[in-house]
Amino acid sequence: MATLELRNVNKTYGNGLPDTLKHIDLSIDSGEFLILVGPSGCGKSTLMNCIAGLEQITGGAILVDDADISGMSPKDRDIAMVFQSYALYPTMNVRDNIAFGLKMRKMPAAAIDEEVARVAKLLQIEHLLTRKPGQLSGGQQQRVAMGRALARRPKIYLFDEPLSNLDAKLRVEMRTEIKLMHQRLKTTTVYVTHDQIEAMTLGDKVAVMKDGLIQQFGTPQQIYNDPANLFVASFIGSPPMNFIPVRLQRKEGRLLAVLDSGQARCELPLGISDAELETRDLILGIRPEQISLAPAVANGLPGVQADVQITEPTGPDLLVFVTLNQTKVCCRLAPDVPTRVGDTLNLQFDPARVLLFDAASGERLGVNVTPRQTGADNVAQFKGR
Ligand SMILES: Nc1ncnc2c1ncn2[C@@H]1O[C@H](COP(=O)(O)OP(=O)(O)O)[C@@H](O)[C@H]1O
Ligand SMILES: [Mg+2]
Repeated sequence: MATLELRNVNKTYGNGLPDTLKHIDLSIDSGEFLILVGPSGCGKSTLMNCIAGLEQITGGAILVDDADISGMSPKDRDIAMVFQSYALYPTMNVRDNIAFGLKMRKMPAAAIDEEVARVAKLLQIEHLLTRKPGQLSGGQQQRVAMGRALARRPKIYLFDEPLSNLDAKLRVEMRTEIKLMHQRLKTTTVYVTHDQIEAMTLGDKVAVMKDGLIQQFGTPQQIYNDPANLFVASFIGSPPMNFIPVRLQRKEGRLLAVLDSGQARCELPLGISDAELETRDLILGIRPEQISLAPAVANGLPGVQADVQITEPTGPDLLVFVTLNQTKVCCRLAPDVPTRVGDTLNLQFDPARVLLFDAASGERLGVNVTPRQTGADNVAQFKGR
């Protein structure tokens, strides 16, 4: 187990090229599981390769247990990485693939056998040890690739989209196994994914990245409930958060977001004045499950009227799509709500859950998070809700 800290890390692939990583600050506690999530091309693999030492950083420092490892060669860093492409040696059998790193480290043969047996048992691949990679399914190959990393008992594991080549069912199975394995081994881990279910379920902390910048760093719940900006809010959650252009109005002491056919109550974000709010173009964010059917008059206000355009029964939920302020809005209702296309619903938004974003900058109103902040700072900043 080890702590991992990135301090103001920059990476450019060449003079004149834009920075691929921009001022990355992250700190991961010993034994913690960090998820790094973001769209394709945002710099996730670059960051992993820099931590592993396969790429050199061009600014800042990477520290393991408070010691700067930025200048060390990959083999001296005691960090094991599992890649998206399994990168197994095709001519070696499973046993030799797992043992390869240990042989390179000149571990005695008896100890290697013991370690291969331990890892094979952990990953349930004992019956595959004499097979070549070409004789294995994708899922089995991925297990072997993980076995190769696990055999080393390094200080830190890096996983770069390890499940993205697997079919949906196997992904779900492996996701659970990885979580179980981490609970057992408690090795500090950084896990890259672009799958938001993995992002929400696997880790202790999540770092959301875009264009080489960390957009937000926090627990999965903070990222889900208190997104710092429109990008984070739209990236996490399925079906995604609804975003509705609105104007705000103060009426009889209440703050109201004006919709085509009604108003939704909001709470005044921290540090924003009423006068400022009424002149700004805003985006109201509300998740599908935070919209419900209103009684005829809710909290002294009529609800928001909307005509049902499409319904999608998913089993546990009924997704109902309506249009408000020229925007398609998804509501997640109970599966037994009797509603049909063409019905007019009276909806209410949970006022404590309504988020407000500046339409021009995408920043969330009432929170102040810049990409340079570390987790501890973020927690302090999020007391506003
Ligand atoms: N070896 C390289 N040389 C030049 N540019 C690169 C190299 N590797 C990655 N990049 C660029 O860096 C950016 C981030 O890539 P990458 O880290 O692979 O993203 P991700 O893993 O998030 O999809 C991309 O624009 C990519 O083209
Ligand atoms: Mg990648």
